[in-house]
Amino acid sequence: MGRTGIEILGIDGKKLLQMLNEALCEEWLAYYQYWIGSRLIEGPMRSEIEPELQVHADQELNHAVQIVDRIIQIGGNPVLSPADWMKLGKCKYHEPSDPYIEVILDQNLEAERCAIQRYKSIADFTDGKGHATYQLATTILNEELEHEQDIEDWLADLNRMKEDIKKLRM
Ligand SMILES: [Fe+2]
Ligand SMILES: [Fe+2]
Repeated sequence: MGRTGIEILGIDGKKLLQMLNEALCEEWLAYYQYWIGSRLIEGPMRSEIEPELQVHADQELNHAVQIVDRIIQIGGNPVLSPADWMKLGKCKYHEPSDPYIEVILDQNLEAERCAIQRYKSIADFTDGKGHATYQLATTILNEELEHEQDIEDWLADLNRMKEDIKKLRM
């Protein structure tokens, strides 16, 4: 049995490859969401948050690298055209047409919550069967959870700042 057979023992390989390709599309969209958002943001805490968004962008790109390597290792074909990213990805890309920092962060937060579901479902699907893919999914899942926490913390800080300003005005 070849690498593919070992990996997908007891797993619907076609379904796994489909999930990995969808995740690959979503990572590229998440990368661009952060990358373009970090360049556009305006508003309070911008100088602190901008570089952090770029760090998140780099991490999403790194997830794409890990996913595509896995697809190739198990004998699949990665998505070849960016035109498929929006078609196959289940996590929405939100055009950052409003550069206000809270709007940008909300868009990123929604993408993170979708990514968490994505890696949870890949982990559930491979649990006890495809060990390497399971490990990959849980490792990425942990980073997505950290991303979500970062954004929630920034939004909480922004809110606190707004509340403090309101109190000063009263
Ligand atoms: Fe990611
Ligand atoms: Fe993320």
